[in-house]
Amino acid sequence: MTRLLVRGLAQLVTPGGSGKLPRRGHDLAAVEVLDDAFVLCDGERIEAVGRMRELAQIVGDLAEVEELDGSGRCAVPGLVDCHTHPAWGGDRVEEFSLRAAGASYEQLHAAGGGILSTVAATRALGADGLRERVARHAAWLLRHGTTTWEGKSGYGLDLTTELESLRAVRTAGGSPTWLGAHAVPPEFASADAYLDFALSDVLPEAAPLADAADVFLERGAFDAAQARRFLEACGAAGLALRLHGDQFTESGAIPLAVELGARSVDHLEATTEGGVATLAASGVAGVLLPASALFLDRPMPPARALVDAGAAIALATDFNPGSSFTTSLPFVCSLACTQLHLSPAEALTAVTVNAAHVLGIADRAGRIAPGCAADLVLLDAPDWRYLAYHLAGDIVETVVKSGRIAYQR
Ligand code: NIG
Ligand code: FE
Repeated sequence: MTRLLVRGLAQLVTPGGSGKLPRRGHDLAAVEVLDDAFVLCDGERIEAVGRMRELAQIVGDLAEVEELDGSGRCAVPGLVDCHTHPAWGGDRVEEFSLRAAGASYEQLHAAGGGILSTVAATRALGADGLRERVARHAAWLLRHGTTTWEGKSGYGLDLTTELESLRAVRTAGGSPTWLGAHAVPPEFASADAYLDFALSDVLPEAAPLADAADVFLERGAFDAAQARRFLEACGAAGLALRLHGDQFTESGAIPLAVELGARSVDHLEATTEGGVATLAASGVAGVLLPASALFLDRPMPPARALVDAGAAIALATDFNPGSSFTTSLPFVCSLACTQLHLSPAEALTAVTVNAAHVLGIADRAGRIAPGCAADLVLLDAPDWRYLAYHLAGDIVETVVKSGRIAYQR
């Protein structure tokens, strides 16, 4: 196993706080900043972290260590994108143009475009094509500093393509989520008829391939009763539960998530006061997707109210071809600070340890600390807050994944 020493960092920053998971309230903003710092990785784990002047004392023998000069750079933990849709074919550039001319996302969806147009293109790819597309999307995520990511299926909605999507995500290094209830595909007359098929034919084969299950609970997709049926079956099959909820309408996603002990409810652009209070009092995390709200010109989720009420929040890209065509968590952090009124420290916690919590891996991912995964991002910036400050900036200079340089600009 090789050891990698990143030395002379202008700053190193990591979520701090009480250590309780997920971070909430004031803890969300508690980050530790070390100036003139080093990180020593031993294989896939971090061995030591400290200030350069303590290096000799902490580390001792530096023989057989590969060195990386961090001067003028800031290290943040490898970013964790806990909500992406990377398994798709074609694109939605035509729809993007129609939306620019005034058509709404929901109108396009109701007219059989939107998600269903991507379903047709994804089914046409085949297993090799799908693997190639997911690998390409994973490379885009890495260039933006994402070292850990969740990837949903949901653009196949037939047995073969759903399973191929889950396998492609795993092969590309992601954590697969079976988004088996994303839309009702055209060969089924109703959402209930589709769910009969999905739960009897797909779930038994999808469950061993996936880490979690997800449903789009929304008018025009699945209602609360259908979402409950889907999630209860998935939970019984051992999958962690996620929901797309309150994107356009508040249709019962938060109460259902709390009742079923889901990991998260994601979107929340339409969440009102009652939903904020219910979520804040629960163990369910709210995953905020401001790039999606921006891309669709929708209201932003009530992030400040959620944090101030004590809710656990994470931030993610929602990368997909229709509602959020971006793979950049630094850009999401910029939106968090400018549109959601979070501080850079709150945004950092939300794209690292809290996002890892949503994926069930916060014990080992999302922090720069001994024993944690040796995943780091070196920012070409004099202050770590450039992560959010440099809007759409090209600041990711080096990405270390599992103790190895996985990307260098
Ligand atoms: O999270 N809202 C549902 N699913 C995705 C969008 C999918 C698409 O438009 O292709 C989302 O925004
Ligand atoms: Fe999504």
